[in-house]
Amino acid sequence: MLIEIKDLHKDYILGADLVVPALNGIDLKIDTNEYVAIMGPSGSGKSTLMNILGCLDTPSSGDYLFRGRNINSLTDDELSAMRNREIGFIFQNFNLLPKLSSVENVELPLMYAGVSRAERRERAEHAMERVGLADRMQHKPSELSGGQRQRVAIARALVTNPGILLADEPTGALDSRTGVEIMSLFDQLHSEGNTLIVITHEREVAEYSRRIIFIKDGLISSDEANVRKSDAAEAILRTRG
Ligand SMILES: Nc1ncnc2c1ncn2[C@@H]1O[C@H](COP(=O)(O)OP(=O)(O)OP(=O)(O)O)[C@@H](O)[C@H]1O
Ligand SMILES: [Mg+2]
Repeated sequence: MLIEIKDLHKDYILGADLVVPALNGIDLKIDTNEYVAIMGPSGSGKSTLMNILGCLDTPSSGDYLFRGRNINSLTDDELSAMRNREIGFIFQNFNLLPKLSSVENVELPLMYAGVSRAERRERAEHAMERVGLADRMQHKPSELSGGQRQRVAIARALVTNPGILLADEPTGALDSRTGVEIMSLFDQLHSEGNTLIVITHEREVAEYSRRIIFIKDGLISSDEANVRKSDAAEAILRTRG
């Protein structure tokens, strides 16, 4: 099991008597190469859950096991090493550094991981090729379209070969056609063996996944397999021989 979460709670403590409960007992298991969408109303706890999954934040109580290791038992250094090596983040607003070229942005996680300069560049170029941007290496983020920026962000997330890709509203800042391009890229990454968790409030985006989880008031309200229309059509064709 890649991820196992048991009775996870998160309270934001804003003052002595101001506590915001954001997650109220989440139980969740995710296997390698799953493709999961997380949906739910604004304020239901989706980003809070993603931040904990990505080790950007820690739970108030409950257990989070990543590859069987309880993250509660890790030191801060071990936690940031794990975040760097195992988690690839993709955000709504790309979070690229404006002064760096695309390939330099993609190199950043490898820099933190202490990879040599030559290997860094080689791996970053390869990641740029994987997202179809071999001809945009030297462009700065401001010289790219929104969809291209998001693909640079995806290359940056991929470059460490993480165990899991976490995306919070990855198409939220894109028009629908560009959103479709990004979702096709996710399809490709999933078929290559990556594990994907995508937060979205768009049903059309969630439809790309193989499992849809709904969160409401900090709890999972439903968790179901998603049969994609294209898969269903293929299955019908197969049975017809
Ligand atoms: N840093 C914080 N400090 C205090 N409260 C917070 C903080 N972050 C989130 N919250 C609260 O926790 C709850 C869950 O927030 P979260 O950001 O996880 O929601 P979300 O499902 O991602 O919503 P959206 O769809 O709007 O992004 C909300 O009530 C929010 O106000
Ligand atoms: Mg959110």
